[in-house]
Amino acid sequence: MNVLLIGGGAREHALAWKMAQSSLLDTLHIAPGNPGTLRHGRATDVDIRDQRALTRFLLDNEISIVVVGPERPLVEGLHDRIAADPDLEGKVTVIGPRRAGAQLEGSKDFAKGFMFRHNIPTAAYRTFGKGELKAAQEHLRMVRPPYVLKADGLAAGKGVIITSDEKEARAALKEMLEGGRFGDAGERVVIEEFLDGIEVSAFLITDGRSFKMLPAAKDYKRIGDGDTGPNTGGMGAVSPVPFADKEFMQRVHDRIAAPTIRGLAKEGIPYQGFLFMGLMNVDGEPYLIEYNVRLGDPEAEVVLPRLRSDLLDLFEGIATNTLSERHVDVDDRTAVTVVVASEGYPGSYRRGMSIEGLDTVQDAQVFMAGVKQGSKGLVTDGGRVMAVTCMGKDIEHAIANTYRNVTRITFNGRYCRTDIGHDLVRSPQQA
Ligand code: AMP
Ligand code: GLY
Repeated sequence: MNVLLIGGGAREHALAWKMAQSSLLDTLHIAPGNPGTLRHGRATDVDIRDQRALTRFLLDNEISIVVVGPERPLVEGLHDRIAADPDLEGKVTVIGPRRAGAQLEGSKDFAKGFMFRHNIPTAAYRTFGKGELKAAQEHLRMVRPPYVLKADGLAAGKGVIITSDEKEARAALKEMLEGGRFGDAGERVVIEEFLDGIEVSAFLITDGRSFKMLPAAKDYKRIGDGDTGPNTGGMGAVSPVPFADKEFMQRVHDRIAAPTIRGLAKEGIPYQGFLFMGLMNVDGEPYLIEYNVRLGDPEAEVVLPRLRSDLLDLFEGIATNTLSERHVDVDDRTAVTVVVASEGYPGSYRRGMSIEGLDTVQDAQVFMAGVKQGSKGLVTDGGRVMAVTCMGKDIEHAIANTYRNVTRITFNGRYCRTDIGHDLVRSPQQA
């Protein structure tokens, strides 16, 4: 089959790398891709917002599967557009939900309402809209700190404010509801109860009827060692996660994943593709913080390397509503990924630094993100430059293998966290 993959980060490089291993694949096209994905498929500059151009591309290249990496095109209705195009009828399966399903990520208020309608454990909340600043500020008085404030819409992972300072929380509410902070995304604000626990990311793949759990992962969101400094897109990830043991994951399956898929069906919301469940482990009980309607980045860079099954076989299961007959087989080993970033990220940083040492890595996958082809070789072109993933028979070996390879890759202003996975080694029970 011919596949079009949409996106251009390390997650999409991992998806491309994984799909390229499938015997079911004829040609993989990637829009826009990056220098790393070129090893696995053809880059295309087709503009996915131009439906005419997209339709022509899909027909000309006999594409039967469109895999959407990031959330934004889904929230903006890419799947709906493809499904509504008479020229494409019955020809193309989109991996990623329609706009209605993408609301699970596109609107925090919708997601919270959905969780409550289906008795999915989550933090208590209230939503306030434009003109309700006073009521929102009053509400702060009734709840205990720390205060958790969330812009309703997509805000590129930056729309969450957690503070114990009531003054700061009141000011943030004002900026969001009246000052245009986060733009349209902040016109409604969710105020929710603070959950005290440890985070873990769980994933499933579904055709809307049945679903299969994929490996869980832990993401390291802060820029600095020891989880310090500002939030980022993610600086590293580990899978499996020792505290997310069999019993915990069974609870995630029974109390969160299954009611979600049942709930979508009950509400008549079709859903096909990946679902990311951002969880908090509160004394062994899983609570759902948020849904994302895609794989995580950098989680995909450890989840996909552990997936033994053919990803295109699973996608074919979605296309034919036979996912329940397919198998998800997982490698028992541990995968660790370390994100190599440009110094200054998540603030400002320099681009165009020449990248050396890529040919010296061993038993590692280097998934490219902020990289471009320079006149003499690859150069940096973003904050998160690449994710380096290695496997190991246990977490200690996986960490050692990954960092051994990370140090082989150099460029001016190279930065990475040096402690990815360390918390999980020291005290696996509480980490
Ligand atoms: P989100 O954008 O919803 O993933 O939130 C960003 C981060 O804020 C999460 O990864 C958590 O670390 C934290 N967070 C979100 N909601 C809560 C909550 N209710 N209690 C504690 N921490 C939270
Ligand atoms: N790593 C978190 C995310 O992809 O949203």
